[in-house]
Amino acid sequence: MAAAKKKVFSGIQPTGELHLGNLVGALRNWAQMQEDYETYYCVVDLHAMTVPYDPVAFGTARLETAKLVMASGIDPRRSVFYFQSQVPQHAELAWVLSTITGIGQLNRMTQYKEKADRTGQNLGLLSYPVLMAADILIHKVHAVPVGDDQRQHLELTRDLVERFNHRFGEVFPVPERITPEVGARVMSLQDPTSKMSKSDPDVRSRLLLTDSADQIRRKVRAAVTDSGRTVDYDWETKPGISNLLELFSVAAGRSTEDLAAEYRDQGYGRFKGAVAEALCEYMAPVRERYEGMEDAEVSRLMSEGAAEARRRAAVSMATVWEAVGLSTRP
Ligand code: AMP
Ligand code: TRP
Repeated sequence: MAAAKKKVFSGIQPTGELHLGNLVGALRNWAQMQEDYETYYCVVDLHAMTVPYDPVAFGTARLETAKLVMASGIDPRRSVFYFQSQVPQHAELAWVLSTITGIGQLNRMTQYKEKADRTGQNLGLLSYPVLMAADILIHKVHAVPVGDDQRQHLELTRDLVERFNHRFGEVFPVPERITPEVGARVMSLQDPTSKMSKSDPDVRSRLLLTDSADQIRRKVRAAVTDSGRTVDYDWETKPGISNLLELFSVAAGRSTEDLAAEYRDQGYGRFKGAVAEALCEYMAPVRERYEGMEDAEVSRLMSEGAAEARRRAAVSMATVWEAVGLSTRP
């Protein structure tokens, strides 16, 4: 008998438009992992409720996110892909996990501190990582492809698995974090010391997956570079150039060292021109697939995904209830 495939879960928030950091840090791995794993992917709409949002625009935002994820190569025939809120077991498991989570550990989460400073505290924001752990554990997965900014949340998830299994028996595998070697942390084009983010007010800081070739060229040309004139891969002295080199490397499928050697003395202008062209080519298929998608069809696929996810989540949630002493069997 063939060995069962290992399982993968990851999620993305429907807040704002998806950008190149999402693609390079996470989505390209999601797509790749469909080859060898049983894959579960989710638009985490419950997570997006932890910061102020507009309920009227929310439905559209989450559908747009689903479309862009599919356009990035996630195939709903190969992955179980759905909206988190449509699978109630995520919230149920989050409750169970919350009872073994220390508040001190949640208080120390960097993302919590940042968001609480920006948008104010609420219990959902504090327990955000517990819901994320539930997302990962509900399908008992082995691996989680994410960008570097999710490191701390994954550590918490692993802690919770150890605590849960120790107390209630071996229910969950300890999930591994999968981050790309190059591009795990794509930086803002306007400030290479902060990450490219959906919430940055400066739209020139990020390349959107929906940007036209012209917009990509303009933003890359306007990207902040460093003093000096040589193209070097050195995050200490040349963070702006190093960020572009990493993007170039992913887009062109060549190493940063190789590209730095070729462009070292060609000047920033020529270098940026070449980066822009490589990115245009890399991003075009995603934009084209996105433009060819029908909202109604994507909605239908998401409903089917949720139905399948509910069936599978119900099976694993029953093992959790059993373990904690609340068996659902008659
Ligand atoms: P979010 O947009 O925060 O829901 O993130 C979705 C996925 O994209 C997560 O796996 C993040 O780690 C990843 N991600 C977000 N921003 C970046 C970035 N600037 N560089 C690399 N990965 C990122
Ligand atoms: N916290 C993640 C982010 O901001 C999104 C997320 C929610 C997630 N649940 C997840 C990522 C489970 C991986 C696995 O990007």
